[in-house]
Amino acid sequence: MNSNMSLTEAIRGRRSVGRVKSDSIAREVIEQLLEAGNWAPSHHATEPWRFYVMTGGGRQALAAAYADIAAEGMSGQELEELRAKQAAKAFRAPVVIAVAVSPSTAKGVSRIEEFAAAHAAVQNMLLMAHALGLGTIWRTGEPAYHPRMKQAFGLGEADAIVGLVYIGIPETTPSEGKRRPAADKTVWMTGEADSKL
Ligand SMILES: Cc1cc2nc3c(=O)[nH]c(=O)nc-3n(C[C@H](O)[C@H](O)[C@H](O)COP(=O)(O)O)c2cc1C
Repeated sequence: MNSNMSLTEAIRGRRSVGRVKSDSIAREVIEQLLEAGNWAPSHHATEPWRFYVMTGGGRQALAAAYADIAAEGMSGQELEELRAKQAAKAFRAPVVIAVAVSPSTAKGVSRIEEFAAAHAAVQNMLLMAHALGLGTIWRTGEPAYHPRMKQAFGLGEADAIVGLVYIGIPETTPSEGKRRPAADKTVWMTGEADSKL
């Protein structure tokens, strides 16, 4: 870990990195990412995130799902080409972690908050990866939400994929990030405003 990286630097410096090297990542490093994800907050301490770590041939499960989803209802000569193109997506990074949510059905637990917790787990992982010098991209798209994708990881009906996190050593340096000012999205509600009412 780059211990010189402040939290502010990690938050501001993290970028989506779509192009990474094929070099494998040490298991201990991957475990650090999982540990970071596991420290996300969750209402009622449900810890609803689930991680499916794919490396090497393990990515074949994802490849098959991408291919099957794209091929759904299709036929013809180009089908195999299409399947191969879609399957190749699973191999864009040496490590792909499918992050799923398995929402608690306990009384008082909100499904939307279970998703919120799993999303927070993903962000923790992205930040930790960045601090460790790794590049990541959080991918979803329609295939991520397709029932066939759930099947690839043995998920139940109420479960869902919240992200496919592609991880590797960055191949390129991404350009600096841009955000519109926080002030544009913020309303300050202070006592002074109240006193004018
Ligand atoms: C829920 C979610 C889903 C995303 N899905 C995709 C995706 O399918 N493909 C992609 O290229 N980027 C995806 N992204 C990454 C965003 O495009 C990216 O975060 C955004 O452009 C801001 O860039 P930055 O991450 O470099 O700050 C996703 C991000 C989130 C939060």
